[in-house]
Amino acid sequence: MVAVFFRLVIFLVVNLAAAENVSFTYNGFESANLNLDGTAKFTSDGLLALTNDTYKVGHAFHPYPVTFKNSSNATVFSFSTTFVFAIRSQLVTISGGHGIAFVISPTRGIPGSFPNQYLGLFNYTNNGNEINRVFAVELDTIQNIELGDINNNHVGIDINGLHSEKSAPAGYYAQNNGGFQNLTLISGQPMQVWVEYDGAKKRIDVTLAPIVVDKPQIPLLSLKRDLSMVLNKTMYVGISSSTGSLLTSHYLLGWSFATNGQAQEIVLSQLPKLPQTGAKKRSNLVAIGVPVMSVSLVLLAISGLIYGIRRRKKFAELLEDWELEYGPQRFKYKELYKATKGFKEKELLGTGGFGKVYRGMLPSSKTEIAVKRVSHDSRQGMKEFVAEIASIGRLRHRNLVPLLGYCRRKGELLLVYDYMPNGSLDKYLFDQPVVTLNWRQRFRVIRGIASGLFYLHEGWEQVVVHRDVKASNVLLDEELNGRLGDFGLARLYDHGKDPQTTRVVGTLGYLAPEHTRSGKATTQADVFSFGAFLLEVACGRRPIGTQGQDGEIILVDWVFSCWKRGNILEARDPNLGTEFIVEEVELVFKLGLLCSHSVPSARPSMRQVVQYLEGDIPWPELSLDLSARDLTFPHHEGFDDFVKSNPSSTSKGTSYVPEPTLLSGGR
Ligand SMILES: *[C@@H]1O[C@H](CO)[C@@H](O)[C@H](O)[C@H]1NC(C)=O
Ligand SMILES: *[C@@H]1O[C@H](CO)[C@@H](O)[C@H](O)[C@H]1NC(C)=O
Ligand SMILES: *[C@@H]1O[C@H](CO)[C@@H](O)[C@H](O)[C@H]1NC(C)=O
Ligand SMILES: *[C@@H]1O[C@H](CO)[C@@H](O)[C@H](O)[C@H]1NC(C)=O
Ligand SMILES: *[C@@H]1O[C@H](CO)[C@@H](O)[C@H](O)[C@H]1NC(C)=O
Ligand SMILES: *[C@@H]1O[C@H](CO)[C@@H](O)[C@H](O)[C@H]1NC(C)=O
Ligand SMILES: *[C@@H]1O[C@H](CO)[C@@H](O)[C@H](O)[C@H]1NC(C)=O
Repeated sequence: MVAVFFRLVIFLVVNLAAAENVSFTYNGFESANLNLDGTAKFTSDGLLALTNDTYKVGHAFHPYPVTFKNSSNATVFSFSTTFVFAIRSQLVTISGGHGIAFVISPTRGIPGSFPNQYLGLFNYTNNGNEINRVFAVELDTIQNIELGDINNNHVGIDINGLHSEKSAPAGYYAQNNGGFQNLTLISGQPMQVWVEYDGAKKRIDVTLAPIVVDKPQIPLLSLKRDLSMVLNKTMYVGISSSTGSLLTSHYLLGWSFATNGQAQEIVLSQLPKLPQTGAKKRSNLVAIGVPVMSVSLVLLAISGLIYGIRRRKKFAELLEDWELEYGPQRFKYKELYKATKGFKEKELLGTGGFGKVYRGMLPSSKTEIAVKRVSHDSRQGMKEFVAEIASIGRLRHRNLVPLLGYCRRKGELLLVYDYMPNGSLDKYLFDQPVVTLNWRQRFRVIRGIASGLFYLHEGWEQVVVHRDVKASNVLLDEELNGRLGDFGLARLYDHGKDPQTTRVVGTLGYLAPEHTRSGKATTQADVFSFGAFLLEVACGRRPIGTQGQDGEIILVDWVFSCWKRGNILEARDPNLGTEFIVEEVELVFKLGLLCSHSVPSARPSMRQVVQYLEGDIPWPELSLDLSARDLTFPHHEGFDDFVKSNPSSTSKGTSYVPEPTLLSGGR
């Protein structure tokens, strides 16, 4: 017995000492010995399918540690790896995400890693941390501005975080000086990647090519970097992949790896075939992400109803009979508490006088959320308010931030939104932004928000008046689409009916003058706010500026004065540089002025606004004698705060008056 034990130990020791050079090759994964986790699985055809669902992570790791150094303070060996992959989005013409990465990490599998932009490699607490000791090469199909991504189709070298050390648009240098050829990662076509580290020259080369092309001589990326400080003596090698809101399949067809030598060639003829992309159920495709999410929300809410009736006081929440019908929209407080780690300061995205917004992750579905906590004292109007939240929760449009649901507690209401990775638009516009948007991006956001607002006004079963349109309530999704968020003030009424009077809420500078007088939430008042929004996006200034020597700048007056001087373009944001389309900038300015007209009936409808922006109808000659008096802001009427209560109005609503920038991460 003792002898057996001894032999085992000796065997292990010898084995570890001899394990210096590792090499493995899989031409297809029929009999592969890899550790899989997350959604990763081998298909019957011999493919390695890393993801098959939205908001998921899939990993495949070589099961044994790989020695990368002779001793912990020595230099890293050379290594080489190559793999063949294919990314298939269910929406081939739109996009898919998020991507695939080759990874070297201290652990087998990467516990605690997140899907979406984190690629199954990191999460928002450890991203960029030097103690991670993670090396990765990402094939990234979504542009995430916060991570400095160059576009939505790039290859990057990542060290300890997702802010790539170096990256390049996907493509390759063709042989015989054939020039640079672009590649589309999500094309669904198999492509091959080579990652090589030269331990002597301390250089990383990354090369990409379609499988029908031989390995290009010139690498796509080349980075001089000593990995000795990054890699420990023994590490694990693997492939990671993640998805976001778009259903995307990430496949591996073959993989080869070696230390201290060239990875064995992959034998392309032996690779498995990708599944047929035949008749697809097109009609359902767009909605795929939504049902998956709402199913989990339904489950959440059902379990909430069954188990959540008796709770410890910590998790006590209010639940009344009439709320039962809002099942899918109701969240358990405990769930939100967990999702935000107990509403930790660290998860705080933004704060204001009326509440705070926290970032969180629903543990069950790994959906990232933003939770807005607003205080309320009275229960008056609560039923209508919740009914409206439930209705708004059913709105679906690509330019709206989905409101997932709510939760009620004593003295508090929690609104749950989809988390938007790129934050709010205002932080790319005002106060010397670190990253600013170019004109093309801004115009896309403008058109998107116009389309979203048009949907609210005319495209849904009821008229939805948003009441707080402004740059800080516009959030940017992973593809930099503008999405209108924060429905905390929205009001609904039936088509053809007159809006009821409500308390006047909104943000100074965006409030239509008649709204402050009548207290009616009308679509024309939204158009007015949209006008202020157009001007702020094109000027890169807030509607009422406090900066500048000459005190307060009223943006609309200023743009109008530029126009009168015959140079409306002068008002544009200097950060735009010279890369902009004159006609588009002019259109946005003039449309902004027209929407700011003090007479509601003189403003265009959102339908017309969309038509102007799409160029479907010609621009009307807007006469210059439109006097500056017609273009007014209600600051003349003695406002001295963000909001004003209208005492004469019948208060149908609630007392939630969220502070202007609650959902913006930026301030
Ligand atoms: C994805 O794969 C997992 C694990 O094999 C499986 O349980 C699940 O049903 C699959 N989901 C879809 C949407 O195919
Ligand atoms: C590296 O480690 C070895 C043994 O662990 C030690 O003898 C040597 O001095 C170390 N070298 C450096 C540069 O720290
Ligand atoms: C590691 O040790 C082996 C054997 O002593 C030696 O041949 C090799 O050059 C060393 N490699 C590095 C990168 O130090
Ligand atoms: C992030 O990952 C680290 C390392 O695995 C883990 O310790 C940490 O708990 C994770 N953070 C979150 C927010 O999940
Ligand atoms: C590759 O893409 C870039 C940027 O999208 C474009 O400017 C360039 O013309 C393209 N090159 C080729 C050869 O298509
Ligand atoms: C790397 O190695 C050092 C020293 O051997 C050890 O202290 C550290 O925990 C290791 N790091 C990781 C991430 O495993
Ligand atoms: C590992 O490979 C290198 C380069 O081929 C060689 O010099 C070294 O002896 C090998 N080490 C072992 C333990 O086989």
